[in-house]
Amino acid sequence: MRLILPLPGHEAFAARLAEAGGWSSVAPEVRRFPDGESYLRLPEEVRGRPVDLVCSLARPDAQFLPLAFAADAARELGASEVTLVAPYLAYLRQDTRFRPGEAVSSRSFARLLSSCVDRVLTVDPHLHRYPALARIYRVPTATLHAAPLLAQWIAGHVAAPLVIGPDEESAQWAGAIAAAAGAPHVVARKQRRGDREVEVALPDLSPWRGRQPVLVDDIASSGRTLIAVARQLQQQGLARPDCVVVHGLFADDALAALQPFVRQIVSTDSVAHPSNRIGLAPLFADALTRDLRDPVETACGEGA
Ligand code: R5P
Repeated sequence: MRLILPLPGHEAFAARLAEAGGWSSVAPEVRRFPDGESYLRLPEEVRGRPVDLVCSLARPDAQFLPLAFAADAARELGASEVTLVAPYLAYLRQDTRFRPGEAVSSRSFARLLSSCVDRVLTVDPHLHRYPALARIYRVPTATLHAAPLLAQWIAGHVAAPLVIGPDEESAQWAGAIAAAAGAPHVVARKQRRGDREVEVALPDLSPWRGRQPVLVDDIASSGRTLIAVARQLQQQGLARPDCVVVHGLFADDALAALQPFVRQIVSTDSVAHPSNRIGLAPLFADALTRDLRDPVETACGEGA
């Protein structure tokens, strides 16, 4: 019988996952020593059992060490397999050295995680220059997709939607969501000039004025991408958009800055947030039950 072990802050997702799969979820004991180091103790006998560590990596720097300690303890105590269930997998955006001397953190983080666990499950990882996680992860991965769930939510909650992808990279993805939701779609052109400086250009949307715009994106971090598109919609006289995202990171003031421009914000529960409306636990439970693994298409561990 699988054992679901949530790292701190992931107890609710783990409980939903355990319920969806018919497994048990028990939180490890995690606390800080007075000097700030972490103490961790596994709650149950793990020998011979597959152990699933639930840790969505939206705050990866603080989360990594307890995760590594839990994984090592599970392995040392005889777990048959240690899987990381990371609905949000961090450190994928720095996938090249843009300026001399930069750390390619995606590669380093993948190497570190690959040394801790036997397998990684995630949903919609932000892959840009890497064709697949297998390019940088040295352990099997399973890449799940939330697009059908986003489409289902849009179809069920928005009358006459117009799906909008914020950049050319999102064209195929936004198109697939729109098709599944039975809606038209358009794609913006985006230029990022800094962490919080984004410019977008939209085509003429006058033919779609009667429709409800729905911005779809994989990640909302600073929120500036969604804000830039929403401003353009306002200038073209369209309604305030709904935003439907997979990973709602909403860093710092993102939510407060975005709210005035939009009608509603919806996210999956890959990162716990008040905007969570779309549950991913059944998707992960199904992947664990069916032991899904991505095809290994390139030499693992190679950098792009
Ligand atoms: C970029 O390629 C992604 O799809 C998102 O558009 C981006 O990560 C959003 O970031 P932010 O919310 O900081 O604009």
